Amino acid sequence: MTATLPTTQSPLDNISYEDLYRRWENGNWKATAIDFSTDAEQWRSTFTEFERKAAYWNYCLFFWGEDAVADGLSPYVDAAPLEEQKYFLTTQQVDEARHAVFFNRFMTEVAGLGGASAGANLTAIKPELTWGFKKVFGRLETMCDELRANPSIPQLAAGVALYHIIIEATLAQPGQHFITSYLEDRDLLPGFREGMANVAADEQRHIGFGVKLLSDLRKMDPEVPHAVADLLREVMPWTINVLVPPGWDERYIETFGFTMEDLGEEGASSLETKLRTAGLALEDLPGPPVMPMNGTPRERAIRGKVLCKAGYLGEKIGPPSREPAHVELLFESVANGLDTAAAREPGVIQWEFTDHEPWHLVVDNGTTRAARGVAESPRVRFQVSFEDWVDVVAGRTDPRRLALRGRFRPRGDLRWLFKSRKMFPAG
Ligand SMILES: [Fe+2]
Ligand SMILES: [Fe+2]
Repeated sequence: MTATLPTTQSPLDNISYEDLYRRWENGNWKATAIDFSTDAEQWRSTFTEFERKAAYWNYCLFFWGEDAVADGLSPYVDAAPLEEQKYFLTTQQVDEARHAVFFNRFMTEVAGLGGASAGANLTAIKPELTWGFKKVFGRLETMCDELRANPSIPQLAAGVALYHIIIEATLAQPGQHFITSYLEDRDLLPGFREGMANVAADEQRHIGFGVKLLSDLRKMDPEVPHAVADLLREVMPWTINVLVPPGWDERYIETFGFTMEDLGEEGASSLETKLRTAGLALEDLPGPPVMPMNGTPRERAIRGKVLCKAGYLGEKIGPPSREPAHVELLFESVANGLDTAAAREPGVIQWEFTDHEPWHLVVDNGTTRAARGVAESPRVRFQVSFEDWVDVVAGRTDPRRLALRGRFRPRGDLRWLFKSRKMFPAG
């Protein structure tokens, strides 16, 4: 548990934008000077064929990500309110370009990518990108457009939550830790490791800046927590799907001595800590929870993976699981994902599935719970197929559109449902 710091004493008090800039000058390094000759030899002779395939997939995500964040930082520079913030963000853009150059060199000189330019290499690796990865980085592109059109403080805060908190702190940092750990343990790829150590030091500085900026933006505009919460609710289902390996073959990660749960746990705990430090603790954000916060970061990571694998979250790859333990977890997540304070009065929602046993949800601030079977006096009843309902929960279908097509029939006290709509994540 992280202790709550009194507002007068924050780890951010010891960080200034000037210090961060100074650390950038002192930390400069050359992506073009790294010697990859031993790496190339070890890539061919020490890695097994499967390890090469798994590492290639993972490093492609990094290469694409570094290129995308280098391209996407300009509107952030324009939107930042202080000159010192603009200076730092400019150094960060240089760093991201350097990281992309570093990965492009490694992928070309070691991992066998043969394009004539960085652009050609990026096109060539596109098939390696996962569904969650494409969603998160697609959102970064639309975020840049939104920020150009509306460089306001809440919009910038949402942008920083996506860039510095989700992409850098939740996804990239645990990924870098994973890669450097197994390469160090096996004493492999010295050139790549040297570059990755520099990349990791840069990222740490970027994340420190992002947390400080977010904290300062929060003090400037009361809309910031709302903007950050909306963004996090939108991207969380994609974020937990970023590292789903091809064909759900978990050996892509396990072959290097880690599990998906290990990486998910590190990401969950990093996300939680950074937001808390910025004064935007997950449990204090307005509206429905960004994700069910019960349990430890590891328990949250395990739950997220089970929900994805059961087909309840993320990319639709087939009919959802009907295994009782999975369905129970689904309804528990629906219950824990409600902002029950937004419910007008207590009430029971009954699901009358057309093709599955019924479930119901007792909405009561503080004691909201889901249970199997038929409730005695439900306030509203939903008639829907199990699969359509799962698509609603996963955000793949809009319940209003389903209702228009007669595939979702709410009955009963619809006034209560309408007045309480803000309790639902997409309300
Ligand atoms: Fe980077
Ligand atoms: Fe970065």
